[in-house]
Amino acid sequence: MEKPELVVISGSPHLGGSTEKLVFNWLGSVRDEFFLVQLSQTNFYPCLGCQQCMESNSLGECVFGPKDEVNFVFSKLALGQKVVLFAPIYFYHLPGKLKSFLDRAQSFYALKIHKRLKTNSGKLKVVLLAGRSKGEKLFSGAELTLTYFAKIFDLEVTCLNLRGIDSPKDVSPAVLERVFSFLLG
Ligand SMILES: Cc1cc2nc3c(=O)[nH]c(=O)nc-3n(C[C@H](O)[C@H](O)[C@H](O)COP(=O)(O)O)c2cc1C
Repeated sequence: MEKPELVVISGSPHLGGSTEKLVFNWLGSVRDEFFLVQLSQTNFYPCLGCQQCMESNSLGECVFGPKDEVNFVFSKLALGQKVVLFAPIYFYHLPGKLKSFLDRAQSFYALKIHKRLKTNSGKLKVVLLAGRSKGEKLFSGAELTLTYFAKIFDLEVTCLNLRGIDSPKDVSPAVLERVFSFLLG
């Protein structure tokens, strides 16, 4: 059987920030082939809520189709992939650019609820970084969104939540070690 492709989503809009430091350090150790989506360098259309994808004569069809790479990325997620997503916490949630990216999964959700989406069961590993060291619900919003996003693609989610990472210099060797061992498992 063909080895599943590793899809890596770097979900921060901040070029050269904490998230990217973590992503690129980890990618330096990855032996498998991977497909990287670097959100800080990616332009795409946000979901318009037009509901074309929900209509029976255009079920699952996004008005943006192949105009950007989003549908292509999501079709990879449906095929039993190993997916790793890194994201910072902004205002107790995922950054707006990443949320806009995830919203585009609505056309796949449309197929899913009509049992027209073929998926294999894959895994979604998530690494979340927050500047604050405290806050009971710091990661709750992000986790909720990602849990329901993952259900569309039948991905089983596990999260590693890192606190006190407010700049690239906070991405210490100890932090990298935690991330490496989480992603190995
Ligand atoms: C707009 C914005 C909102 C933020 N909101 C939070 C927050 O609610 N809680 C928190 O712990 N850190 C918050 N932070 C800090 C970031 O989580 C932290 O600096 C992170 O390391 C940024 O990663 P990046 O460099 O990849 O953007 C916020 C940062 C920004 C830019």
